[in-house]
Amino acid sequence: MARRKIIAGNWKMNMTPSEAVKLCAELKDLVKSDDADVVYCVPAIDIVPVVEAVKGTNVEVGAENMYFEEKGAYTGEISAAMLKDAGVKYVIIGHSERRDYFKEEDALLNKKVKKAIEAGLTPILCCGESLEQREMGVTMDWIRLQIKSDLVDVTADQVKELVIAYEPIWAIGTGKTATTEQAQEVCKGIRDCIAEMYDDATAAAVRIQYGGSVNARNAAELFAQPDIDGGLVGGASLKADFGKIVNYK
Ligand code: 13P
Repeated sequence: MARRKIIAGNWKMNMTPSEAVKLCAELKDLVKSDDADVVYCVPAIDIVPVVEAVKGTNVEVGAENMYFEEKGAYTGEISAAMLKDAGVKYVIIGHSERRDYFKEEDALLNKKVKKAIEAGLTPILCCGESLEQREMGVTMDWIRLQIKSDLVDVTADQVKELVIAYEPIWAIGTGKTATTEQAQEVCKGIRDCIAEMYDDATAAAVRIQYGGSVNARNAAELFAQPDIDGGLVGGASLKADFGKIVNYK
């Protein structure tokens, strides 16, 4: 069965609650799509107003992070149950900005992935290499290590529902997109890794996005690749261009 495309915006630390509601109204008609799932991953404080603002549309809401503990004394953190109760469907886990600036490591990310799934959320698990790693020729080794560590004790049935985002760090926010060949090669490598860890049916089901300077001009070529099932879009998700990316065909 063909995988359904999933095109998600990652708003990062942008949009106050009132700006968020305005953006949802501006994008509402532009992001209509019958062929793709459309998701806005928004800052925690925007979740409640954005869930309200996209009611009755084709847009689902995602969070940009969560903590793995059930509840309790974890000042500043947000639990999977809180996200679920607020109407969130997806949660980005392990974005390179969290790995880098907030020192989130694979053992922690594995706990977050498991907790998100347990709570009924769909993780968008991010992976990707630095420029240095690419130049050293260890891209696929590094990504396989990330995927294997982040999916410890996650079952095949759970992986089938998962979204994985391949985001080369050097392509994020730089305007420097990976070439279509580079993006396809790594996304296929991730699928092969899932096939080795699980089986072919699981590999065929998991959705793999490309992220890193996706824009209205390059989306069509990237998303047409056999192993690229959509995109995780930063900067271009905050403007009308996001509608063109969703309707890339
Ligand atoms: P840009 O699209 O701004 O490069 O960001 C990509 C990204 O990090 C999405 O998660």
